[in-house]
Amino acid sequence: MAVSFDFLDRLGSGHFGEVWRAVDIGLDSECAVKLIPKDKVIDQNNFYSEAQTLQLTEHPNIVKVLDTGAMNDDRIYVKMEYLKNGSLEDEVKGAYVKLSRAKKLMIDVLRALEYSHSKAIIHRDIKPANIMIGNASEGKLSDFGLALPSIAALDLSSIKDYQYVLHLAPEVTSFEKFSAQSDIYACGATLYRLVNGDSYISNVPFSEVRDRTIAGTFPDRTSYRFFIPRSFRLLINKALNINKKERYQTALEMRHSLERLTVEVDWDERKISNGIRWYAIKGDMNISVSLFEGNNGKWNVRFRKGRDIDNLRQYNSQSLYNASKTKAEQTARKILQDYVNGNT
Ligand SMILES: Nc1ncnc2c1ncn2[C@@H]1O[C@H](COP(=O)(O)OP(=O)(O)OP(=O)(O)O)[C@@H](O)[C@H]1O
Ligand SMILES: [Mg+2]
Repeated sequence: MAVSFDFLDRLGSGHFGEVWRAVDIGLDSECAVKLIPKDKVIDQNNFYSEAQTLQLTEHPNIVKVLDTGAMNDDRIYVKMEYLKNGSLEDEVKGAYVKLSRAKKLMIDVLRALEYSHSKAIIHRDIKPANIMIGNASEGKLSDFGLALPSIAALDLSSIKDYQYVLHLAPEVTSFEKFSAQSDIYACGATLYRLVNGDSYISNVPFSEVRDRTIAGTFPDRTSYRFFIPRSFRLLINKALNINKKERYQTALEMRHSLERLTVEVDWDERKISNGIRWYAIKGDMNISVSLFEGNNGKWNVRFRKGRDIDNLRQYNSQSLYNASKTKAEQTARKILQDYVNGNT
C-alpha cells in the first residue's frame, strides 16, 4: 500500500534531500519525513538494510527511524520521529557553543557512534546539522549514511560549502572509503566548529580546501579561542589527525578522553572597540577579563570581579598594563584557561 503523508512545513534541505514536518495520514501521527531523490541513493539494497537496522533498534542518542520506502514519484522517504527543537546547527547558527554544552553534546554523539559502529554502520556525515536536539536537550544523531554520492564521484570542486567539506577526512577527500576513523575525524571537526564558531573555518579559499585538508592546515589546528584549554585542543587535534591511525581508534576511546576534561567555567566572548572581553559566572561572582590596546600602542589585560555585573571591582594582582601584544595575550589566555580548568 502506498504511504501517504500530509506535508505541513518544510524544515530544511541539505545536499541529499529535504525534510518536512508531516502527518502520517494512516496513523494520524506527527513525524518528520526526509525525501531523497532516487539518484542520490547509490546502493538501494544497502540503503534499506541500514535504515532497517536502525529501525529495529533504539538508542537514546539516535533519531528514531520509523519507516522507509519509496513515494509514488519514486523518491525515497525516511520517516523519523519529529524533534521540535531542530538541529544543533539551527540552535547555534554559526556561533560558538558554551564549552560545557559542546562537551556534553559530543559525548552524546560519541555514544551514538559507539553503538552504530558496533553494528558496523558508519555514519559518514557527522556535523551540527545532523545532530538533533532532543526534549531533554540531549544530542541525537541523525542521517546515518542513508544517502551519499559514491565516494569516487565526490567532486569537491563543485561543493562550495565549508560546513560540509570541513568534516571530510583527508583520506576521504582522496577517495579512500569512509571508516570508523573518518567518523572520528568528523567528530573532531564538529567539536572544532562548536567551540570556535564558524568564523574560524570560512577564511580559506575553496580552491585550497582539499590540499589544505590533506596537509592538515584546514581547519587551522593552531587557532582556538583563548579560553579553550590545551587539553581540549589536544583532544580535538588528535581526532583531526591527518593520519587515521593516529586518531582515536574508537568512539569509546574518544568519549572517555572527553569525559575526563573539566569545564569549571563557561566563558562568553565579545568584541570591544579596542580588543576583546570575556565574561563568566563563578559561584555567585561575575568575572570579566578584558584584553585591549591602549592609546600608546601597548596592550593591557584587566581582570575584574564582583557580585554586581555592572559594577565589577578591578583586581590589579591579575591585571597587566603596558605590555607587548604577545605577553598580554599569554596573560589573558592563562587567566581564562585557569578558570576553565578549575585552577583558581
Ligand atoms: N527528525 C527531525 N525533526 C525535526 N527537524 C528535523 C529532523 N530532521 C531534520 N530536521 C531539520 O531539517 C533540516 C534539514 O535536514 P537535512 O538532513 O535535509 O539537511 P542537512 O542535515 O543540512 O544536510 P544532509 O543532507 O547532509 O544531512 C535540519 O537542519 C533540521 O533543521
Ligand atoms: Mg541531515
